[in-house]
Amino acid sequence: MHRFIPRSLAPVCLAAAASLAMAGAASAQTAAAQKIKVGFMLPYTGTYAALGNAIENGFRMYVQEQGGKLGGREVEFFKVDDESDPAKAPENATKLIKRDQVDVVIGTVHSGVQMGIVKVAKENNTLVIIPNAGADEATGPLCGPNIFRSSFSNWQPGYAMGQVVAGRGMKKVVTLTWKYAAGEQSVKGFKEAFEAKGGKVVKELTLPFPNVEFQALITEVASLKPDAVFVFFAGGGAVKFVKDWAAAGLKDKIPLYASGFLTDGTLEAQGAAAQGLETTLHYADGLETPRDRNFRAAYAKAFKLQPDVYAVQGYDAAQMLAAGASAVKGDMSKKTEVIKAIEATRVDSPRGVFTLSRAHNPVQDFYLRKVEGRENKVSSVAVKALADPARGCRL
Ligand code: BEZ
Repeated sequence: MHRFIPRSLAPVCLAAAASLAMAGAASAQTAAAQKIKVGFMLPYTGTYAALGNAIENGFRMYVQEQGGKLGGREVEFFKVDDESDPAKAPENATKLIKRDQVDVVIGTVHSGVQMGIVKVAKENNTLVIIPNAGADEATGPLCGPNIFRSSFSNWQPGYAMGQVVAGRGMKKVVTLTWKYAAGEQSVKGFKEAFEAKGGKVVKELTLPFPNVEFQALITEVASLKPDAVFVFFAGGGAVKFVKDWAAAGLKDKIPLYASGFLTDGTLEAQGAAAQGLETTLHYADGLETPRDRNFRAAYAKAFKLQPDVYAVQGYDAAQMLAAGASAVKGDMSKKTEVIKAIEATRVDSPRGVFTLSRAHNPVQDFYLRKVEGRENKVSSVAVKALADPARGCRL
């Protein structure tokens, strides 16, 4: 049916139609010009500074490989140094979420700081991809539709090592770590697997984070004469611990086991003191897959550095974001669709392909590795497709 338009009004209607069409095109252009805002909340100072930098490098490298765009949109970066300080976490997360209005927070390394990020992000329904911090709560009792992880839960590498040590017939183990969530939850995972197979953790020793005065504790460990020791340390603290352990003459006397953070990204500084140490982690040197080989070559070229587990986790955080952004052609306001797409993604990681659990934590292989020269050389898969139990998560 044709509508009758009086001849006198025709020019007005044409002009209105033209301006509507122009407005439509302009708003489509504005949408396309809108960037995806990524907020890095990471430690750039302190004992975990190198970890934060590696995560950012890995993340940026993936974006660069996509021509600087995710879901067809350019990416704009914002940064906050969280200093691994839990007390400053709510304020720092609020800066990114409220002031900078980021679409996603990529953060962080330290489990205590993570709790602050999760709280603020849940209040504001902001997407978070955790590129390291293992805080069990984030994919446990505090899980949420908008909270994802590209790394591990603290329970996972500890649990894998508990199985290895029990399998070697060790009966009596002492643990030593920093007294905060990452250390305590790693020990809990270790203990769960180790004691289920008949072992006994006879003493749990701790010192405050990020204290590195290990001497008295190392002496105490030696006096307890355990079959083995399990520790969690990372970053600068891990360098100091491994050197102190060797200097105390215990390297060849008491077997030392750890989650792989003890020797990842630290071997250059640890040198001879680290040789032969065995750890469990979801990444290793010598995986020899085309995916990992390409990733390592590209990273070494871009940053003049060998990648470590933190770089992989940053790279994979970007891959997860890309899956969400592609599903909505870059329109990050479509939060439900973004979340669904990330949940469904199979991440083609340098560590090996992984999927996400119901609680949004990677279901992944844990490797047993041994330090040889400057490498954490893979020995075997300690536990295949290990899923965090996600205790307390209701999603
Ligand atoms: C953590 O605080 O969750 C953490 C820090 C460094 C390495 C691994 C875990």
